[in-house]
Amino acid sequence: MSNQPIVEIIEVEPRWITAQRVRDELVASERAAARESGLPTNFDRRDLDEWLDALAFDIAPVGEWLESVRVFEAFKVHLTTRERRSVHIAQGEFLTCLGSHLRERFLHCQGEFKKFKSRYNITSKTSESLKSRAIEYRTNRKMTRAKQKESGHSGQPSVVASESRKYMNEFLKTKCSIILLENELFPDAKELSESFGAFNACRKHLGEFKMDDESISLISVGDGMTPRTAALFALRTSWHCIAIDPKMGLSKKSKQKYDIARLQFHRAKIEEVRIRAKKAIIVMVHAHISLAKTLASVTSDDGTAACIALPCCNYYASIDAPNRIEYSDIAVLSPHRTVRVWKRLSCSRHAND
Ligand SMILES: C[S@@+](CC[C@H](N)C(=O)[O-])C[C@H]1O[C@@H](n2cnc3c(N)ncnc32)[C@H](O)[C@@H]1O
Repeated sequence: MSNQPIVEIIEVEPRWITAQRVRDELVASERAAARESGLPTNFDRRDLDEWLDALAFDIAPVGEWLESVRVFEAFKVHLTTRERRSVHIAQGEFLTCLGSHLRERFLHCQGEFKKFKSRYNITSKTSESLKSRAIEYRTNRKMTRAKQKESGHSGQPSVVASESRKYMNEFLKTKCSIILLENELFPDAKELSESFGAFNACRKHLGEFKMDDESISLISVGDGMTPRTAALFALRTSWHCIAIDPKMGLSKKSKQKYDIARLQFHRAKIEEVRIRAKKAIIVMVHAHISLAKTLASVTSDDGTAACIALPCCNYYASIDAPNRIEYSDIAVLSPHRTVRVWKRLSCSRHAND
């Protein structure tokens, strides 16, 4: 086969498309119902502000939250009472606007406005039913343990060693950083350091894969909403680089097209694609998918793939296999800075070989 990898998308409707379709249908039916009933469909923001003022809404004490749906229900009751007739407000549309409205409202207030799941850190000073309540965060024990392990002594913040600035310095010296910035591929220094950490692992431990070998395909699984790690590799090597993520393209910063040679990106789960490459390197930067499922989607000439993974969250166990190199990279600005490298893992071999 040619050096160009073949990416085949399997035609199954992924669950996220189904969920999105259901949401779209709900909003459409809410709008249609409102149109039919002839009632006002949309709340007026001024009404909302007046109501928030009347109930003396403010930033809640630390650790206290109010469910967004309670705000919706109470506001609807208020409008219905005021109008003395039933008022229709589309819940989906209201809740979509509420967060940004509150963010603007509390922009210059003392205390920062925050959202936690579908709750806001706001409280009414006058209405008992709209008072915030304390919610216990479930501590992420794994993350705490990972942080403690990295800092070397439990509970103490880690010392910011000069080593930890390594990738920021590298970024400033790299010619391709301009292209990375222009394309708004990285949202912050943390994400940047993670992708650079993967590149560094490749440079250090996969030396047999030459940077100018055009027959290599790099597959970045779970790359995020922008094809950031794949773009970094495409700009710094001669490899064909493919980013796969079900959320690809969904951020405001995502682009339809990137003017970066040998970069492909696909909005899909890795299980929904089959990638045929001559030589394959898989990169999994904090990907939320198992190594086994990933390997099942990749085919190479010799039936093996190298792999670099930075596991996170609940994926330490499922992104694992024997014969790995493992180390902690202090320059990755995340509590999840374990790097695993495999030189040869079994994937699928081309059927005609
Ligand atoms: C914690 S985010 C990491 C994103 C990015 N790599 C980063 O470090 O910023 C986990 C990513 O895994 C992606 N993901 C979840 N299931 C996946 C699947 N089946 N195949 C590919 N990616 C998946 C998610 O969409 C998400 O973007």
